[in-house]
Amino acid sequence: MTSSHAELVQRHRAVMPRWVSLYYDEPIELVRGEGRRVVDADGAEYLDFFGGILTTSTGYNVPEVVDAIREQAGRMLHTSTLYLIRPMIELAERIAELSTIPDAKVCFVSSGTEAVEAALMLACTSRRSNQVIAVRNSYHGRSFTAMAVTGNRSWSASSLSPLNVSYVHAGHRLGGPFTGMTDAEVIDACVADLRDVIETTTAGDIACMIAEPIQGVGGFVVPPDGLFGAMKAVLDDAGVLFVADEVQTGWGRTGEHFWGFQAHGIVPDLVTFAKGLGNGLAIGGVVGRADVVDSIQANSISTFGGNPLSSAGALANLDYLVSQDLQGNALKVGRHLRDRLDDRAGRLPIVGEIRGKGLMLGVELVHPGTTVANPAAAQVVLEEARRGGVLVGKGGLRGNVLRIAPPMSVTVDEADTAVDVLVAALETAARQGAGRPGEEQGAR
Ligand SMILES: Cc1ncc(COP(=O)(O)O)c(C=O)c1O
Repeated sequence: MTSSHAELVQRHRAVMPRWVSLYYDEPIELVRGEGRRVVDADGAEYLDFFGGILTTSTGYNVPEVVDAIREQAGRMLHTSTLYLIRPMIELAERIAELSTIPDAKVCFVSSGTEAVEAALMLACTSRRSNQVIAVRNSYHGRSFTAMAVTGNRSWSASSLSPLNVSYVHAGHRLGGPFTGMTDAEVIDACVADLRDVIETTTAGDIACMIAEPIQGVGGFVVPPDGLFGAMKAVLDDAGVLFVADEVQTGWGRTGEHFWGFQAHGIVPDLVTFAKGLGNGLAIGGVVGRADVVDSIQANSISTFGGNPLSSAGALANLDYLVSQDLQGNALKVGRHLRDRLDDRAGRLPIVGEIRGKGLMLGVELVHPGTTVANPAAAQVVLEEARRGGVLVGKGGLRGNVLRIAPPMSVTVDEADTAVDVLVAALETAARQGAGRPGEEQGAR
């Protein structure tokens, strides 16, 4: 660390809240990037396989995106939704069409949390109910309602909530009650659990169920394909809306589909999005059934939502993502990455499970021979991978799942380099016998 770097860490700790945690014993200051590579203030280069928490979707310094932002910034940053905003309207039209929701409408906000907040407001208003079903081990953001539907204590700072929330299972299989079950058995068990929760913990007039198609912060937990389809059939019978939180899974990241919900054969009533749309610009939103989106009788506004700068940049980013078929690339490189990880890391005794879809791959670390979470090993792997020049994330209820999610433009060569580094890091963690059972801690 240079002295100016050490000083910056100290200044960060002095002025930023304690709960804004930093990765690494010696935190990194990233100062520029190109494609999938980022450079820190000391000139060290890394392959970025976490992409600003699945946000840098197309890559760093993509000329088509940067030019669009520059061009818009040179003319006008902001006007407000009191006036017509051409790029916002175009972006809404594109997202409405991509959503597969018939005659959909779109509202824009500035973050994933706000998108969730808006979706819950729309569902609750349209159904005149504050009862919501959420999923255990979920993460939906940091506002009061987003936290209220977050089923992970590490991220639930408060139980105060305007919502009445019931939690259901969605099929996490490693070490839980669904261990060893087939997909069909998991689906049956989750559907039975949903029915039971509706009958025993609600008054019946539930506004919506909200779910991530693949849990992000929860450790890239993948439910069986079709699970949310089977659950939605129960919800439809009970008149309950379904909200797919696509903040992490959207824009083709899962490779096989453009949206995560498409693995379940459903069309949600509302879909939330953020992160990858703007490639780092602050933009999120909700796309959904027009009758639900239009259900609000009062005025409502998001000052920054869909402003000219974020809309123009997001539109260019979406154009790039679609025209370059980055979903296809996520499928191809994601499969390659998964095969290499399975081959080379799957045999290590600290690896409990490798899972995920496309470029959203999780490696759950355990104490050898058990399914007991091993967050200390995840910590060692994170540090070792950084030393080897690769940045990855971690998550999971106990912070023991490595999260691998590079920009969707990643190449096979880059994936191979990352696998070499990650396997070496995993081997180091295994050799060190990192962690002792009982040391489990939160995801941070
Ligand atoms: C599924 C999901 N929903 C909502 C959010 C909240 O997004 P933001 O951090 O932009 O508020 C996140 C953030 O990680 C997320 O993963």
